[in-house]
Amino acid sequence: MSLDLNNIKELDNGNKLVGDLEFPPRKMWVKTYGCQMNYHDTERMVSHLKPLNFSLTDKQEEADFMVFNTCAIRDLANQKFYSHLGGAKHDKAQREVKIAAAGCIAQTESKALLKKYEQLDFAFGTDVIDNIGEMVYRAYAGDKKFSVTSWDRSDDYSIQTKVEPGKPQAFVNIIKGCDKFCSYCIVPFTRGREKSRRVDEIVNDVARLCKYQGIQEVTLLGQNVNSYGKKNGESLAQLIMELEKIDELKMIRYTTSHPYDISDELIEVHGKSKKLSNHLHLPVQSGSNTVLQRMLREYSIEHYLERLDKIRAANPDIVISTDIIAGFPNETEDEHRATLELLKLAKYDFIYSYNYSSRPGTKAAKMDDVLTKDMRGRRLREIQALQLELQAEVRQEMVGKTYRVLVEGSNTMKGELKWKGRSSCFRIIHFKPETPESNYKWHWVDLKVTSVTALSCQGEIVKDYGKTI
Ligand code: SAH
Ligand code: SF4
Ligand code: F3S
Repeated sequence: MSLDLNNIKELDNGNKLVGDLEFPPRKMWVKTYGCQMNYHDTERMVSHLKPLNFSLTDKQEEADFMVFNTCAIRDLANQKFYSHLGGAKHDKAQREVKIAAAGCIAQTESKALLKKYEQLDFAFGTDVIDNIGEMVYRAYAGDKKFSVTSWDRSDDYSIQTKVEPGKPQAFVNIIKGCDKFCSYCIVPFTRGREKSRRVDEIVNDVARLCKYQGIQEVTLLGQNVNSYGKKNGESLAQLIMELEKIDELKMIRYTTSHPYDISDELIEVHGKSKKLSNHLHLPVQSGSNTVLQRMLREYSIEHYLERLDKIRAANPDIVISTDIIAGFPNETEDEHRATLELLKLAKYDFIYSYNYSSRPGTKAAKMDDVLTKDMRGRRLREIQALQLELQAEVRQEMVGKTYRVLVEGSNTMKGELKWKGRSSCFRIIHFKPETPESNYKWHWVDLKVTSVTALSCQGEIVKDYGKTI
């Protein structure tokens, strides 16, 4: 079976002729779980299937093709997917629909999934996302129950970014995989080894997006963007300074960072770059050095806090957030309290916090563990309650200040229409329109903050710049 995706013919009946197969217009529905990398993979899949006559729907019941783009980071993510996939059995029984599993669970469990769930037509892993066209062709050509989970073994990593039409924001993959092997984490198994794109390629890619597709804001993506370029003698700091030169580009964000690799060079860029976001997500995981050692995180709390001080000195407006895991195997009460102490010292703007979840195949999964579910739950609640208190205080400093935001949308809160956008420092600010008809979608506006709580921020409009600044 061969497929030339550059040789697709549009037929008079509205179908597309691909090889010897006709593709009528079909609707695809995708359920995405997990991190931004997965969400971006979904964008890539949708964009690859457009030439095969697929358009996206948000109604599962009208889908001709369903994709579950899965996440394996915690057991809860797996359970959600199994339950949703289980439910899709009814759809399969009622109508002609093809169902595929993609992403991190599919990477490691595809054979078992295909065996267990008869409704599943095929499964594919994280390193073959860009070959989805060929797999869909195979499925419609009659191939059943196949899985593709191979790794790209070449040294280079070269892609073209796919964006959603009409949106000025784009996710841009700069590095894939992770070589860190933190003891609790499944990602190195589901995403493979680290590989970076070249600075030149990314700069040309982003310049094209800005010039021809109206992109003004990019989020550079990777599981560990601070390792970006190491194997090619390039760096994230260098990439940011090159991107900065693209006139039409207004905002650069990156996620997610590993504290070990935050270099002085990058910190300096946080001080001098005019376009780099005033926000840094720097996952710490625990406030205890002994837990960090068991996690194989490679840094100490002293090193972490020194990095924070230096970044804040370089850019006094920077806002920091983090990830915390509560109840790592055998975490003592003292080790847990060290995390509470760290929250007080670090003054995070927000945290993502989770109970530790044992992931098969990781080093931590082999540790004998004395903690119970209740102990973990209680520690997580303590962490979250303290953070909420601290967060309310940290955010008070916003009141009276003016922030520039790119407006993303509107919603009705307690019967009142409000628009919202994100500041450079990644905070969402809500505001009332000047008239009920005012449409601020994708406008840059200046907002003066009028009130703040731990979880929400209200402002009033000072200036509307329209769709570009
Ligand atoms: N690459 C990033 C994190 C990616 S995963 C980093 O190094 O920080 C996102 C978050 O999920 C992690 O920061 C961690 O807090 C959480 N996480 C990862 N594995 C987990 C596990 N087994 N149980 C609970 N939380 C986990
Ligand atoms: Fe997982 Fe650690 Fe890699 Fe982050 S750096 S993805 S936590 S192994
Ligand atoms: Fe989940 Fe895979 Fe992302 S495990 S967090 S979707 S890299």
